[in-house]
Amino acid sequence: ENAAYQAEFDARIDAGATIEAKDWMPEAYRKTLVRQISQHAHSEIVGMLPEGNWISRAPSLKRKAILLAKVQDEGGHGLYLYAAAETLGVSRDDLTEALLSGKAKYSSIFNYPTLNWADVGVIGWLVDGAAIMNQIPLCKCSYGPYARAMVRVCKEESFHQRQGYDALLAMMGGTDEQRELVQDAVNRWWWPSLMMFGPHDADSPNSGQSMRWGIKRISNDDLRQKFVDATVKQAEVLGVTLPDPELKWNEARGHYDFAAIDWDEFWNVVNGHGQCNVDRLAARVKAWEDGAWVREAAVAHADKQAAREKA
Ligand code: ACO
Repeated sequence: ENAAYQAEFDARIDAGATIEAKDWMPEAYRKTLVRQISQHAHSEIVGMLPEGNWISRAPSLKRKAILLAKVQDEGGHGLYLYAAAETLGVSRDDLTEALLSGKAKYSSIFNYPTLNWADVGVIGWLVDGAAIMNQIPLCKCSYGPYARAMVRVCKEESFHQRQGYDALLAMMGGTDEQRELVQDAVNRWWWPSLMMFGPHDADSPNSGQSMRWGIKRISNDDLRQKFVDATVKQAEVLGVTLPDPELKWNEARGHYDFAAIDWDEFWNVVNGHGQCNVDRLAARVKAWEDGAWVREAAVAHADKQAAREKA
């Protein structure tokens, strides 16, 4: 019987149809989706921290309102993604537990510190820019609930990217000192942004199967190249230098060449030893513990309602 289900699943994947929560799916497909969607959700939630650090220090009321909205969007993205993961039969509590115990991965990028206001702009421009590049193809992912969540997430990410670029344009039109802050932030965030796309295709254990299943539509290296190609011009308009002396247009390839990525740094951060890994997890654990009374109150309220309905 399973063979018939498998054949139907394969045919739907080959035809580019979406798989829905109630459809039969191979266990490995379900597991891969839970892994990727939950890591993605955790990234959104942890991703609130580096910029949240600057809400109380934004340089104007307007910038503060924009940043607040953006950080709230990220909380919302985490919630849509946890909900998408739940359609695959996992519980939100188990996913949260995996994050707080340090078992679950989340994006390497959020383990770098935000040292000055320009970092907030650069995160919008480069980090959210990289996130959009990676997430647009996920809107066509074969799993319907994930694909649909991504459509809305990408619209909001596009606002995040523009607000970052706009904040940087304002600083670049300011004093020499402000321009130096922007350049310093670009120097620190450029390489970690390229690492967001994950290991080279040849070193990516999950890519082959995820591409065959239509979960990933474009490979890690191809997305990274698209990001570099799109960003060079934006850096020129902004008036900053990307910190890579080997960055050069390659006429034959029709793409920019760029220097080798420091994969030791990448794996070091992924394995928990980046500058902020300990602080990020500690902040999430504290938020969870501080919120215990809200969860208890919600359960007490639900119990009371249920008892009242019975009576
Ligand atoms: N940070 C942390 N871990 C990473 C990163 C990264 N930048 N890139 C890859 N990894 C992990 C993978 O999760 C995988 O770990 P696992 O097998 O233990 O689960 C391992 O490194 C090997 O990588 P791949 O085989 O290439 O893994 P995968 O096929 O899942 O590709 C990718 C990684 C591209 C990140 C994919 O999972 C993806 O597109 N995820 C959705 C997007 C996302 O999570 N974005 C988060 C940042 S954007 C934001 O939050 C604003």
